[in-house]
Order: sequence, then C-alpha cells, then structure tokens
Amino acid sequence: MLAKRMDGFALVTTSEHLRSSTRPLALVTGAAGGIGVPLVSRLVAAGYHVLALSRSGGEEQPFVTPIPCDLTKPEQIEQVVAQIAALDRRVQVLVHSAGVIVPQRMGGGDTAAVSCQLAVNLEAPILLTMKLLPHIPSGGHVVFINSMAALVPLEGSSIYTASKFGLRGFALSLAQDVRKRGIHVSSVFPGAVDTPMLKREIDNGGSPLNFVTAPATADGIAAIVMGLLRRPRAEVFCPSSDGILAQLMLMMPRVWRLILPILLKKGRKGLRKYLDGQGRC
Ligand SMILES: NC(=O)c1ccc[n+]([C@@H]2O[C@H](COP(=O)([O-])OP(=O)(O)OC[C@H]3O[C@@H](n4cnc5c(N)ncnc54)[C@H](OP(=O)(O)O)[C@@H]3O)[C@@H](O)[C@H]2O)c1
Repeated sequence: MLAKRMDGFALVTTSEHLRSSTRPLALVTGAAGGIGVPLVSRLVAAGYHVLALSRSGGEEQPFVTPIPCDLTKPEQIEQVVAQIAALDRRVQVLVHSAGVIVPQRMGGGDTAAVSCQLAVNLEAPILLTMKLLPHIPSGGHVVFINSMAALVPLEGSSIYTASKFGLRGFALSLAQDVRKRGIHVSSVFPGAVDTPMLKREIDNGGSPLNFVTAPATADGIAAIVMGLLRRPRAEVFCPSSDGILAQLMLMMPRVWRLILPILLKKGRKGLRKYLDGQGRC
C-alpha cells in the first residue's frame, strides 16, 4: 500500500508497508542521485528496507520508503529522526550520499553557494549521524560517500574541498567515539564518478584533476559500499592508486606543487576523452 502523504514528513509513520516490513532498515541520503539510485537497488536486493531521503520524496516502492528532506534545514533532519524514533525500529545502515559542488574561484561570488555546500556536505551528515546514533544498534554501520577532494586540494572548488576534508575528520573521530558500541564507520573516496554531479561540475568549470583517471560508474561505487557492509573498513579510495598518490602528496606539499602541472595535463587529456565519449567535444 502506498503511504499517505499527510504533511510531507509523515511518510515514515504512515507507511503500512514499512510498518509491516521485518527487513533491517537502511537510511540513504541523496537516494535519488547518481550514486544513490543504484545503491538503493543493491540494498533492497541484499534484503534491506530503505528509507530513501531526497528533497522531492517520490512514490513508495517495494521495500523503499521515500522521505522528503532538505538537508540544508536542520529542523527537517530532526523531524525525520523523530519519525524514525516513533517507529521504534533500529537503523542498521546509514549511508550519507547527498552532496553538492558549486565550482567558483575565491575572490568573488556567491556566499549562498558556500553555505549550501557546507550544509549538505558537512553539517547535515554530522547532525543526522548525531541524532540517529541512539537508533543505530551494535553491528550497525555508518558510511560516508566522501571524495578524493578530501585529500587533493581542488583549484576552483575550495568550499567543496573544505567540506570533504572536514567530513573525513568527522568520520575518523566518530569511528573512535562509537567503537565501544560496536558501530562501524567507513568512508568511500571516489575520484570522478559518471553522474549528474560530474556533468554539472564540468559545465561550471570544475577541475581537470577529476579526469587523471577515467570516471568510475555509479554502480561501481554502490558495489564498494555493499562490500564495506559485508567487510567493514575505515577508508576505501577509488581508484586505490589515486588514493595512495593523494595521501603521499598531502604529506609532501612541495612535491605536490611540482607534480601538479603533470597531473593537470593528464587530467585535461582525460577530460577531452570523456567529452569525446559523450559526443560533447
Ligand atoms: N559524481 C562525482 O564525480 C563524485 C566524485 C566524488 C564524490 N562524489 C560524492 O558522491 C556523493 C553522491 O554524488 P552523486 O554523484 O550521486 O551526485 P548527484 O547525482 O548530484 O546526487 C546528489 C544528491 O544529493 C542530494 N542533495 C543535494 N542537495 C540536497 C539538499 N539540500 N537536501 C537533500 N538532498 C540534497 C540530491 O538530492 P535531490 O534528489 O533532492 O536533488 C541528489 O540526489 C556526493 O556526496 C558527492 O560529493 C561524487
């Protein structure tokens, strides 16, 4: 039975389908996004009932209850968690996949884009995790879809980079806070992923560093998340070679400055190849 939309936030408590489901619950933010969609499918196939957060909500599907939530609004995050608490169910898996990038050079521009990126990429994952932790059982898992931008400073995307650096710090600290409770914390660090976000980023002057290696598929990232749920690890870089290089470069900023022109050249070539493949060159 489809949930009745009473006030836009009552989907959780009014969904008969959810109330009768005995499946473990997984909550995914950015569930309607490029990575979110295949991730939700994989979670359902693996036996979860998914609480799918997005701004638009959408129709209830078998084992997927959509929840409208604008993550820039803390009061909406609180309402979502209050509804989950009213269900009296545990949330086994929490995946933070929502994200926003607005490329802009510092020195001018749009402060609203600053607040939005920090709110969606950093503040919302912190608030949602804090509020939901009492409802996550031992053996539960919190997964952050981070970005290689958490290790590689991206020219022209300093706010996104700052938000993802911050998110990495939060995840690593959180893991220590919840270890005794038996809750796993993982972060996935993709380079470029072929999703609407990447296309918007290219169209708005995003960094060619995204294309030093070919973009991953969204389903490939979803598969990595599923692998983490089976075998928890703190951090996974995709591709792993970029992760090793990026971590080394962070320790040696001078070498990074030397190597950057070579990477940018390789990235511009990769970008042309990607655009060619899309018939956009
Ligand atoms: N694509 C890449 O190249 C890439 C690379 C590295 C890391 N990542 C990370 O991967 C994650 C998923 O990105 P994606 O590629 O799947 O991007 P996407 O296709 O643009 O999806 C992003 C999702 O974020 C949600 N979102 C944005 N603003 C929101 C808000 N105010 N409230 C609630 N939800 C909001 C959107 O939900 P709505 O349905 O409400 O619009 C959208 O579904 C992000 O954290 C991103 O930083 C992506």
